Amino acid sequence: MVAPLQGLTEAVWRSVHQRLFAELQGEVEYFTPFIRVEKGNVRARDLRDFTSVLNEGMMLTPQIIFRDVDEWKMLVETLATNGAKRIDVNMGCPFPPQVKKGRGAGMLQHPEIIGRIAEDMANYPAVKFSVKMRLGVDDLTEALALVDILNAMPLRHVTVHPRTAKQQYKGALHLKELSDFSSKLIHPIIFNGEISTPSDIEILTEKYAGVMVGRGLLARPSLFAEYRSGEEWSVEKREEAYLNLMRDVSSELEKKLCGKSQFRDKIKPYFEYVPASLDKKTVKAWKKI
Ligand SMILES: Cc1cc2nc3c(=O)[nH]c(=O)nc-3n(C[C@H](O)[C@H](O)[C@H](O)COP(=O)(O)O)c2cc1C
Repeated sequence: MVAPLQGLTEAVWRSVHQRLFAELQGEVEYFTPFIRVEKGNVRARDLRDFTSVLNEGMMLTPQIIFRDVDEWKMLVETLATNGAKRIDVNMGCPFPPQVKKGRGAGMLQHPEIIGRIAEDMANYPAVKFSVKMRLGVDDLTEALALVDILNAMPLRHVTVHPRTAKQQYKGALHLKELSDFSSKLIHPIIFNGEISTPSDIEILTEKYAGVMVGRGLLARPSLFAEYRSGEEWSVEKREEAYLNLMRDVSSELEKKLCGKSQFRDKIKPYFEYVPASLDKKTVKAWKKI
């Protein structure tokens, strides 16, 4: 599974990735970055990212983030009306302003709201739900305390990034606490965090129902293709695949956006996820586009 990454794994990147690797990587599920409510409505550009024609032929699951039952209902109903057959529920975003308002990982501290959502899921029998979460906000046992409510939900799977929100995207992965949690959960677990090689995937899929990869796939877009083919590609072949993908992403974004400054704002976040092996000259030239 391809992790949702706000500003990165949006429709343009996804469609280029799917076009270049579909045959080699087999079936892969993509997730949209979270879709939210803004000023009382579902944010239009979030919704466009899900309904875009660029998503054609792709297994795509929209993800939602919300703070209460009203926001939850508005998002689920809007997405279902727009054809969503699956919806992923964000209980993992660590961004402090969202957490403070009870969204993302902040939801982990509101079992009463999660309980009402668990009941409401039955009102949408045509939609299959999944949850993406962390182990807690700053306490690694918060997830464990939610096991009964999560078990009452009709879920496809639960994706876990085994860190607290306080850790953001760095520091130790807490495998012992993940194991305590997963031993009580009835749903399949998808592992998410720091996956960067085909052998990581091989090892983790022995233990978990699947994996979800974010940053590792941005820097090594051939990762799933390599895993499925059963052998690692050479560094040169991987770099070529990365540069091909980013060249196509750049030209699609250039066509779509108005002017150089909009384009640079959109392309800049990708500079953080350049393959470590790439020589300085190539990186410099790429960042100058
Ligand atoms: C820039 C950025 C944006 C992200 N946006 C989202 C998001 O919209 N929804 C979500 O569930 N997780 C989001 N995440 C978290 C990733 O999906 C993933 O859980 C995290 O990066 C850990 O996995 P990785 O080590 O494979 O990257 C984001 C992470 C980053 C770094």
